[in-house]
Formats: sequence, C-alpha cells, structure tokens
Amino acid sequence: MATSNSQTHPSSEACQAAARPVIRRPTLADAVQMFELINAAGSLDKNSLYLYLLLCRDFSSTCRVAQSGSRLVGVTTAYLPADQPKLVFIWQVAVAEEFRGRGIALAMLTDLVADLAASDPWFLQTTITPSNTASQKLFTALARKFRAPISSADGFHENLFGRYQHEAEVLYTVGPIAAVCEEVQPQNIEAQAL
Ligand SMILES: CC(C)(COP(=O)(O)OP(=O)(O)OC[C@H]1O[C@@H](n2cnc3c(N)ncnc32)[C@H](O)[C@@H]1OP(=O)(O)O)[C@@H](O)C(=O)NCCC(=O)NCCS
Repeated sequence: MATSNSQTHPSSEACQAAARPVIRRPTLADAVQMFELINAAGSLDKNSLYLYLLLCRDFSSTCRVAQSGSRLVGVTTAYLPADQPKLVFIWQVAVAEEFRGRGIALAMLTDLVADLAASDPWFLQTTITPSNTASQKLFTALARKFRAPISSADGFHENLFGRYQHEAEVLYTVGPIAAVCEEVQPQNIEAQAL
C-alpha cells in the first residue's frame, strides 16, 4: 500500500497510485481484453468473445477486472446460479503472468464477495482441477481471509467431458461468508502496489 510521507516526492506517489491495479466491475469495452487475458492464461478453457460480451452486459455485477493503466491484468467471471439464493459461482479467474503473486486474484475475489456478503452471509462455489495448485491455494486463502469453512466434493467427473479429454473438476464450497471484518470491507481492498 502506498503511504503518505512528507519526504516522498508528489510525482512518485502519483506514479505508485497509477501503477496499483484498480479493481472494478467490467463494462462492454473490456470484453476484448478479458477474452485475450483468459486465452493467454494457459490452463483455462477457451470461450468465444461473444460470451465475454454477454458477461459484461448481463453479469457485470458478479464479475471483476483488475486494471493497471489502460491494461487489464486480472479477470474474474462469476454468476448467481438460478434457484440457489445466496450462492455465487466463480467460473474463471486469471491474472496476467507477470502480475501474479501480488494478491490481484485475491483482491478481485475479496471485492466481489465483500460486496455480496455485506448484509447477509453468502456461499461461494467453484470447481478446480486436482492439478491446479495455484487455484486451490487462492480459494483456501479467500476462506481464511473471511474466516469461513472450505469443503470439497465431486464436481464434474472426467467422463462427463466425453471424448473432449479433461481432468475431473472438484467442487469447492466456501461459506457461510459474512463480511464482518473491517479488513475485508470493499474500501480496504487493494492489490499490492506494483
Ligand atoms: C490462479 C491465479 C488466478 C492466481 O492469481 P494471483 O494473482 O497470482 O494470486 P494471488 O497473488 O492473489 O494469491 C492468492 C493466494 O494463492 C497463492 N498462490 C497463488 N499462486 C500460487 C501458486 N502458483 N502456487 C502456490 N500458491 C499460489 C498465494 O500464495 C496466495 O495465498 P496466501 O495468501 O496463502 O499466500 C493465477 O495463477 C492464474 O491466472 N493462473 C492461470 C489461470 C488459472 O488457473 N485460474 C484459476 C482457475 S479458474
């Protein structure tokens, strides 16, 4: 976090502030960069650009992007499953390779969850392949941050992918999540300064 210091030159503070990613909801103008970032992430399933246009138009309130300058460096897509009140399903999370390990993914998820769970406890679900250690660690860190339990169960068995070979997807549930701690209130969420 950038600190205010009378010894610090104002322009260097401005540079630090400019370099810190801003976490926000996506707009239609973000769809191309979201599509490109997800495709470049390496381990994520590829979808059409049209799908990201739909997400930006119809599911913006449950998605987040991290922006550094004019560039998107993080994307989180999520939706509220029909008929499952107080549950958010996190679909894809990606951070540009050179920006990883700086708390950006955790900051995006924290912003979303703190927003949803501000008044009532919520549950979060996602599926993760057994080989994706980074994603398992990310959701474990999120559960720890909100002091919420995390559990796993069968998600999508590999047979369900038919001839389109795919690892099994394990279903993770975090919750109940209540954004009661001051440190996870939305206004206090920041990815680390870059
Ligand atoms: C998974 C991913 C989104 C994490 O993004 P990130 O911004 O680097 O993650 P953060 O810096 O917020 O780290 C959050 C937690 O996960 C841990 N973590 C992140 N990447 C890790 C890795 N490669 N190995 C081990 N732990 C890792 C961090 O240590 C941190 O835990 P801590 O608070 O206990 O230290 C990023 O690696 C990525 O884009 N991967 C490719 C796409 C993908 O697999 N997405 C997830 C499935 S949808």
